[in-house]
Amino acid sequence: MKKYLVIGNPVNHSLSPKLHNYWFKENNINAVYEKKQVRENDIEEIISEMRNGKVEGINVTVPFKKSVIPFLDKIEIPEKTQSVNTIYREKNNITSSNKIIGRNTDIQGFAYSLAHIKYSVKGKKIFILGAGGVTPSIIYALEEMEPSIIMLSNRTKEKAENLKKSFPQLELVEWGDTKNFDMIINTTSLGLQENDKIPINYDQIGPGKFFYDVIYNPNKTNFLLGAEKRGHQIENGKLMFVYQAQEAFRLWTIAPNVPNGLMPQINEKVLQLLEND
Ligand code: ATR
Repeated sequence: MKKYLVIGNPVNHSLSPKLHNYWFKENNINAVYEKKQVRENDIEEIISEMRNGKVEGINVTVPFKKSVIPFLDKIEIPEKTQSVNTIYREKNNITSSNKIIGRNTDIQGFAYSLAHIKYSVKGKKIFILGAGGVTPSIIYALEEMEPSIIMLSNRTKEKAENLKKSFPQLELVEWGDTKNFDMIINTTSLGLQENDKIPINYDQIGPGKFFYDVIYNPNKTNFLLGAEKRGHQIENGKLMFVYQAQEAFRLWTIAPNVPNGLMPQINEKVLQLLEND
């Protein structure tokens, strides 16, 4: 039986096993997907398990999306994102070299989540909160959608300034300042804890805005609850999560006779499966 893993620290909150195991079953694939909490020192060993065939594919979550990169044979990611969340083995032809390759499916995950709900970013003012591991992938995806402006604010200013080196068009905003925007995206980890509060002033925000939170557990962070109460459109990170997983599944199921891999279905049943217990 083929084995797949999500590695991270912490990793116990991950819904990836539930989703991928469902898709494996649905597609009659004899495989199991498990979560594994690891330390930085374990990464090389885990990736060698892909080389020796013990592990078939890996998802990478916080805080290792960057630190896995040196151990891979090849990365197929936009340089600016420095983020790998999916590791797969090259096997699109029989004579392929079995290279271990890193990809970033968070970019598609974010883009497809907006397509799913038919939200168009073109010409919109975007305000991003946070400058963590997933933020560059989101900026990268947004760039392609031609917003009129991308503002970004992070508690630690230096990290925001570093991001601006890769994405010079960013307009940096002081942490705690509320700007005029059409869409605001929380990419920080604030909201994972029930008492977490994002410092934004709802009274300064006009009606009919779109609040997007990368967090999907809890279902509605305080950031989203506050927005919902005031009648704004809200979306949590569940769709982004499902679409990044779909692309990972596709990469893992590429084979000489299935050159594009299998696209597992995203439907109401799948989304329901991921509702918090
Ligand atoms: P990493 O920084 O290792 O990439 P992450 O979980 O991807 O970790 O990102 C954490 C993000 O949440 C960062 O933007 C972080 O802000 P700092 O750069 O200032 O640390 C933000 N964050 C986490 N806790 C926060 C808090 N209590 N207040 C404000 N921002 C917070």
